[in-house]
Amino acid sequence: MKKIVIAIDGYSSCGKSTLAKGLAAALGYAYIDSGAMYRAVTLYLLRHNIDPADEEAVAGALPYITIHFENIGLGNHTFLNGEDVEADIRQMDVSENVSQVSIISAVRRAMVKQQKALGRRKSIVMDGRDIGTVVFPEAELKIFLTADPEVRAQRRYKELTEKGVEVAIEAVRRNLAERDRIDSTRMDSPLRQAEDAIVLDNTNLTPDEQLEKAIALAEAAILQPAD
Ligand code: DC
Repeated sequence: MKKIVIAIDGYSSCGKSTLAKGLAAALGYAYIDSGAMYRAVTLYLLRHNIDPADEEAVAGALPYITIHFENIGLGNHTFLNGEDVEADIRQMDVSENVSQVSIISAVRRAMVKQQKALGRRKSIVMDGRDIGTVVFPEAELKIFLTADPEVRAQRRYKELTEKGVEVAIEAVRRNLAERDRIDSTRMDSPLRQAEDAIVLDNTNLTPDEQLEKAIALAEAAILQPAD
């Protein structure tokens, strides 16, 4: 059967990772969370007291940062220099600084290079902001996920509080709005819908319903004859 690359892009907390994980499991594909890579870089900077706005200092830190992923139980964990940081990269301090870090071109170049390498053998689902536009412009299937901002904030709040993170809903709303603003207005590879992406609005869909739609799109893309 033809192996394809699936790119899923969209705003923060749209349910991209839930969809990407489900799709990868259904197809027997690898799942890569590209946002986790930007989060791991951000965590490194915060731990080493490097100002995320200091482009030179950030670029200088990149050679000391190694990121890899491992499947642990049902989850795909992110490792920073050999340490499992899956929980740490989801904390609010990382969320509050990650968009600033991902503006920096040197960071983007380093991450995109690794992401392209991960997709070389195909059979991969990757989610992020620039996957269909920059990382895999040739992806056989591109999905642009959207959802109502308030629904996104409520989902994110629930996810964080269930993980034991203490946060006010207003702080979550502010963080999502600010990240959407920075991610879609930055100079280098801003978040935008690829021309050939299929828009999926999941405001009124359950995770199972959105997965069903995405599986149908993936099956159609797999059956499509290669160019
Ligand atoms: O998907 P996420 O919310 O975990 O991503 C965290 C941040 O990383 C997001 O606000 C912007 C940045 N990011 C990016 O610039 N490009 C990507 N492909 C993925 C994430």
